[in-house]
Amino acid sequence: MNSELHIIVLAAGEGTRMKSRLPKVLQAVGGRPMLAHVLETAAALEPARLHVVYGSGGEAVPEAMGRGDLEWVHQAERLGTGHAVMQAMPAVPDDARVMVLYGDHPLTPVDVLRDLAALPEDALGVLTMTLGDPTGYGRIVRDADGVVVAVVEERDATPSERALSEVNTGMIVAGAERLRGWLGRLDTANSQGEYYLTDIFAMASADGVPIQTVRAPDARDLAGANDRAQLAALEQRHRRRAAERLMAEGVHVADPERIDLRGDIRCGMDVFLDVNVVLEGRVRLGEGVRIGVGAVLRDCELAAGTTVLAYSVLDGVVTTGACDIGPFARLRPGTELAAGSRVGNFVEMKKARLGEGSKASHLSYVGDSLVGKGVNIGAGTITCNYDGVNKHRTVIEDGAFIGSDTQLVAPVTVGRDATIAAGTTLTRDAPAGQLTLSRTKQTTLRGWKRPKKRD
Ligand code: UD1
Ligand code: MG
Repeated sequence: MNSELHIIVLAAGEGTRMKSRLPKVLQAVGGRPMLAHVLETAAALEPARLHVVYGSGGEAVPEAMGRGDLEWVHQAERLGTGHAVMQAMPAVPDDARVMVLYGDHPLTPVDVLRDLAALPEDALGVLTMTLGDPTGYGRIVRDADGVVVAVVEERDATPSERALSEVNTGMIVAGAERLRGWLGRLDTANSQGEYYLTDIFAMASADGVPIQTVRAPDARDLAGANDRAQLAALEQRHRRRAAERLMAEGVHVADPERIDLRGDIRCGMDVFLDVNVVLEGRVRLGEGVRIGVGAVLRDCELAAGTTVLAYSVLDGVVTTGACDIGPFARLRPGTELAAGSRVGNFVEMKKARLGEGSKASHLSYVGDSLVGKGVNIGAGTITCNYDGVNKHRTVIEDGAFIGSDTQLVAPVTVGRDATIAAGTTLTRDAPAGQLTLSRTKQTTLRGWKRPKKRD
């Protein structure tokens, strides 16, 4: 027997306890909605179909996922987990196997789900975990021989059942035909007046269907989030796992408790990430890249040997060779830095390319610019790229020297090896190899006296 696998992800819950306008499954962990993590894990199991039951938040949930390969099923009313599964069942053939996952359990490792899928096909399988504090979870009830006979919700449990520490993660696997039969027999005779999916366990036990469990090795990975505190705990766990993965790949993480990794992060060997670094989106760091304290990088690709000093903020930056950035640099999308270049403190760049060995060491704005090799951009240089309506380009050719406090009123070109004197407002192209300056003449008023304070 090798029935096709249908996965049903429950994602319709209101998330009342989050106290948020955002549907619960769209709350982010590691920079992505919880549901996105679950769908990625589910897809790794290569199911024949992936059904997602949504409800609260309406179309916002499918829209946020933006995936056309899913079977979206609307649950108009939240009548419980059993009711949610029922909504998806019409699209599931009798000979399929069904796995139920929860949209608010984003960190479930794919291998425990593989173990769950590998249980014998005639059994009802459930992923369980053992908790020091099982509050809020359904308890796994076993008989004297250790055979599972029921799952009891906390609110319906007797004191001795409440004392049980093995709990239901909610993730189950069952044959579709049997599951359909049990779901049809669910009622709402419980403390919450809901159709509990968990009632199928007592039915399976009564029907003589074997109930088998997979016990999760680390409960922290199986946890769900119903409120903000649990969401923060998941974030912490996610952060720790991401840091451990990077460390295993040879990254030197100064403190795995003080780093935030929210995206698709790949690092070469001997990358150093100092404390309070935040990496978001798609980040690629070549061998030996060093990221200083408090730096924030989003969607960056930094070549081997690049150094980013403390408190720099980089968004959409590419370096094509080893170069130095920061401290306190702000590099916006479209910034490209070549080998040996340097961008220092309080320099902002946007849609600008800095050639090999070029430097903008202090206090500058370089936008919509093409800067050649070996250029020196003095402190306080501003490319005036915006006339209030359109953006214009500045070109600075190889070897040019831009004196401090220069304004380059774009569109403008500074020729090769040109020198621009400090304080110049450049409104026309500066010829190659020449000194160009615009300056009011300096005068001194001889004998001038400072005014004195009147009595
Ligand atoms: C549920 C289980 C409990 C288990 C726990 C694990 C039941 C009755 N209880 O309790 O045994 O220990 O999960 O976290 O199953 N949902 C819908 N539609 C609904 C209701 C819920 O889609 O009508 C979704 C929610 O979005 C969520 C999941 O189902 O993803 C679980 O619902 P939730 O209300 O969080 O159940 P718990 O009370 O946590
Ligand atoms: Mg829950």
